[in-house]
Amino acid sequence: MRLFSLCLLLAISVLSRSHALVVHESISAPPSGYTYDGPAALDETLTLRIALAHRNLSGLEEMTLAVSDPASMLYGRHLTTDEVLAYVKPAPDTHALNGVAVESTSLAGDLFKISLSVAKANQLLSTEFGSFTHIASGQKSVRTLRYFVPETLQQHIRFIHPTIAFMGPMLSSSLAVVAHTEVSDGAAPVSCETLWTPQCTQDAYGVPSTKAMNSTSNVLGVAGFFGSHDRSQQYANSQDLSVYLSTFRPDLVGSSFNFLSVDDSINNQTLSAAGAEADLDIETTVGLASGVPVTFISVGPDNPDGVLGAIDIVDAILSQPPETRPTVLTTSYNILEEAIPLSVDVSGRRRHFKAYRYCFLREMSKLIHVAGGVGGTTQNTSCTTFLPTFSGGCPFITAVGGSTGLPPQVAASFSDGGFSNYFPTPRYQVEDVASYVTSLGQQYSGLYNASGRGYPDVAAQAVDVAITWQGVTGHGSGTSAASPIFASIIALVNDRLIGAGRPVLGFLNPFLYSPGGRAAFTDVVSETKSSGFSASPGWDPVTGLGTPNFDRLLAAVGL
Ligand SMILES: *[C@@H]1O[C@H](CO)[C@@H](O)[C@H](O)[C@H]1NC(C)=O
Ligand SMILES: *[C@@H]1O[C@H](CO)[C@@H](O)[C@H](O)[C@H]1NC(C)=O
Ligand SMILES: *[C@@H]1O[C@H](CO)[C@@H](O)[C@H](O)[C@H]1NC(C)=O
Ligand SMILES: *[C@@H]1O[C@H](CO)[C@@H](O)[C@H](O)[C@H]1NC(C)=O
Ligand SMILES: *[C@@H]1O[C@H](CO)[C@@H](O)[C@H](O)[C@H]1NC(C)=O
Repeated sequence: MRLFSLCLLLAISVLSRSHALVVHESISAPPSGYTYDGPAALDETLTLRIALAHRNLSGLEEMTLAVSDPASMLYGRHLTTDEVLAYVKPAPDTHALNGVAVESTSLAGDLFKISLSVAKANQLLSTEFGSFTHIASGQKSVRTLRYFVPETLQQHIRFIHPTIAFMGPMLSSSLAVVAHTEVSDGAAPVSCETLWTPQCTQDAYGVPSTKAMNSTSNVLGVAGFFGSHDRSQQYANSQDLSVYLSTFRPDLVGSSFNFLSVDDSINNQTLSAAGAEADLDIETTVGLASGVPVTFISVGPDNPDGVLGAIDIVDAILSQPPETRPTVLTTSYNILEEAIPLSVDVSGRRRHFKAYRYCFLREMSKLIHVAGGVGGTTQNTSCTTFLPTFSGGCPFITAVGGSTGLPPQVAASFSDGGFSNYFPTPRYQVEDVASYVTSLGQQYSGLYNASGRGYPDVAAQAVDVAITWQGVTGHGSGTSAASPIFASIIALVNDRLIGAGRPVLGFLNPFLYSPGGRAAFTDVVSETKSSGFSASPGWDPVTGLGTPNFDRLLAAVGL
């Protein structure tokens, strides 16, 4: 790796001496919420990721939609890893870098990493890296406002990170975990209205409690990142899981989860290192997807800010033997979409490169279906527009909103979706988005992007969901809970499909919005909230198509 890094450095610096330099990406000032502290220390080590241009991303998008659309002849014919890699491998004419691209950090050879001092980075990119502080969290980062690359290389480089991207901390909905004394005391069962247990989910959505047995290779992946405030690693704890299972799923006592380390994460099982989000996600999946093997995919410190960790997850998954790769991946972390910078592509169009790479590579194996949690649109009264979040706004992720109450459920007060400013409305939801926008009339006009990807796609319980965290059993609320619930249900459907000798579902959205798919959902038409978009008959950006019903999902896939 060292040799390779030096080669790349050499290649770029040799070229940069002999070729004209051009600005590759720039911003005029750091985003609000950041202060500039001065030039970064020259001897500090910086790990740069260099992303190369893809060969045929639009072809991959087209194929992905085709194999996921029940109306297509290609439905269910998931692409193999090699087929996907063929679309994203850098084009052969990336010759300037080809000689050194042999040891990249990604399977596709489109992303690689070099560690160097700030002094060297300044020289390499003809810039001056500075030190910036994110005021709210105190988080410090080394960034710059613009950087240069040799003109001859520009069309081959999508972006270099970290440079001008100020991501802010990742958001996971802040879970207030409230201890539930009735549970701890082992007293009489409590109502689903005060404590939502796995049994409540089974009753509300018709989910079976029988153990999935048709395939041990039907893995459900759960992604874990940093905590939203202190940026400490979020770990899922086995001891918490045991207590949770003996309380809520005694029949599953002994079930555990596997650990997959990404970016140097360690599996810290100290009870005080347990994260509420990580515990909730693992307990909810292990406790609902009865018998489906669950893997906790933990992104460690060796990535600048989580977003690239999400890319690394996909490469880590693809590096696993096929039988241990997840068929479903759930994540409950988000960032504000606007925190991800735009770049200018070779044809001069402003494009959101990072999100593109993230979107596609999360989805690219085709064996993975992604159920992303959604933090919702932040409606800040002092802001002039709604702020969409990522990854819910990604059209290749299934975004899950929050619902609550005994059926018929209503929208959770904090469940909020919206419309992406980066991704246009995908064709699978064009009619749904259009009819919702029409129903709004002039309401919120100018505050949201009516031609953007609308999210969430579906909804599930998100209020007072059972959790055991650091030894305390109680409940937590947030759309963070809805995503693992929905992912578990899909994992159980995949188990039945495997049992019937059929392909697993893969990327879900075109199926969900198809006539068969939407019939499997119970529309959520009312809500307990008072501001922002509202739940209404049909698709809406609060609860999507509604809550799932297991038997109707089976019927929709023809089982
Ligand atoms: C990109 O992929 C699509 C879909 O497979 C294919 O039709 C198209 O010819 C490809 N384009 C190039 C330039 O390879
Ligand atoms: C595990 O977490 C605990 C609590 O946060 C911490 O004190 C300990 O140093 C961690 N262990 C390792 C090996 O990092
Ligand atoms: C709303 O945005 C303003 C300006 O960015 C910020 O100062 C304020 O803290 C935000 N309020 C909330 C409730 O997030
Ligand atoms: C609205 O969404 C479209 C489609 O993604 C995009 O082209 C446009 O730039 C967005 N508008 C704003 C104001 O962000
Ligand atoms: C396995 O799949 C078959 C066929 O779909 C189904 O009848 C059976 O219930 C499944 N077994 C379990 C334990 O889910």
